[in-house]
Amino acid sequence: MKLSVIGCGYLGAVHATAMASLGHEVVGVDVDAARIEMLRAGRAPFFEPGLDQLLSETVQGGALTFSSEISEAAGAAAHFIAVGTPQRAEGDGADLSYVDGAIESLIPILRPGDLVIGKSTVPVGTANRLAESIRPTGAHLLWNPEFLREGFAIKDTLEPDRLVYGVANVGSAADDVALLDQIYRSVLAKGTPRIVTDYATAELVKVSANAFLATKISFINAMAEIAEVTGADVTQLADAIGFDARIGRRFLNAGIGFGGGCLPKDIRAFSARAEELGVGQAVQFLHEVDAINLRRRHRVAGLVIDAFDGDARGHHVALLGLAFKPDSDDTRDSPALDVARRLHEAGATVHAFDPAANETARRVAPDLRFANSVDEAVQRAELIVIATEWKQFRDLSPSELATQTPARTIVDARNCLDPATWRAAGWTYHGMGRP
Ligand code: UDX
Repeated sequence: MKLSVIGCGYLGAVHATAMASLGHEVVGVDVDAARIEMLRAGRAPFFEPGLDQLLSETVQGGALTFSSEISEAAGAAAHFIAVGTPQRAEGDGADLSYVDGAIESLIPILRPGDLVIGKSTVPVGTANRLAESIRPTGAHLLWNPEFLREGFAIKDTLEPDRLVYGVANVGSAADDVALLDQIYRSVLAKGTPRIVTDYATAELVKVSANAFLATKISFINAMAEIAEVTGADVTQLADAIGFDARIGRRFLNAGIGFGGGCLPKDIRAFSARAEELGVGQAVQFLHEVDAINLRRRHRVAGLVIDAFDGDARGHHVALLGLAFKPDSDDTRDSPALDVARRLHEAGATVHAFDPAANETARRVAPDLRFANSVDEAVQRAELIVIATEWKQFRDLSPSELATQTPARTIVDARNCLDPATWRAAGWTYHGMGRP
């Protein structure tokens, strides 16, 4: 089937590639000409395991093309909207200008019966409004939220936990549902659950899933705060409550808190939308979830500054990790980068190293010092912070590291090291919510 994907960022580039790998003829459209050039050359414009290979295969095979001209999308049976919905420059709400722009640019090429499929994360009520604006073309709108995680984006697209189809009228959308079923035929053939809902439910499934995940992380980080004043160990606590199948152990890792291009802005946009709808109180707790999360960054910076007797000026700190999570070069709302900035502002010299995110971090924080390896970052350090739990950092040998650095203090902001091993090797170990 001929498909178009409007927006070739994290979501769109992966979706276009994944759809081409299923055998569809896909054109990805983006206004960023430099990005289109890279994608045409079969190169991913960001770090995502496996994407480069699948992209170059599908581009070379001819199934996947890219263009900065929306006219190239004409004739596609379905158009996926995969543009970003960042936090507004002013306020907590979502900036819908890219979504509105995408729809506006599509309208002249839509034909009766075409399907426009929204994948972007939008405030509840958006799909209804967009459906109205495309109605005169005779095309239909379906909202099909995306749940992919960076680092697992291809797998999450081709083997999702579930597919959600939001339609204007559940009773009379059989043709639209059948068309999307055809697009996802091989995904559905693996037994993936599919739920057909109204627009509002589909929009809410996405934001409430992210709100739940953020709440789970902030819950365990709140327990870390309690553990810190009682001498309890939050990692053991998480293991113990996680054995309860109703709770589950996943997303119960206390540490530096959540970041990235989704969870932080999605909970804020959700709160802002609920306020607009007059039900702000229902998600009032999300403000607390956000506040707990931001306190973790403060806590990590505080542990480092305390280690220098309250004054970090003139001290050298190695900060390992800048991405908001491992296997990503994304530093959007990254707690690791935030801690680096805080320490820099407190007067420390921060030697930062991330296996993939040095360049993205340098663009937004050029004042930091960037090292090309762990060795280089720790050379002059008096203290080391593990800020993102890349495997390469989890696997560090405390005795070997000690030969490369004068530092003997480590702040494990991700609780990803074994305290006993590090202490036995002569290090002063500080974890998060563990004695
Ligand atoms: C998230 C959702 O998981 C995904 O379903 C949605 O589509 C987009 O947002 P992503 O932003 O890629 O995906 O990252 P995720 O793996 O969810 O991690 C989010 C943040 O939470 C990261 O900063 C991570 O380090 C942190 N985290 C995660 C914790 O601090 N503790 C945990 O136990 C799990």
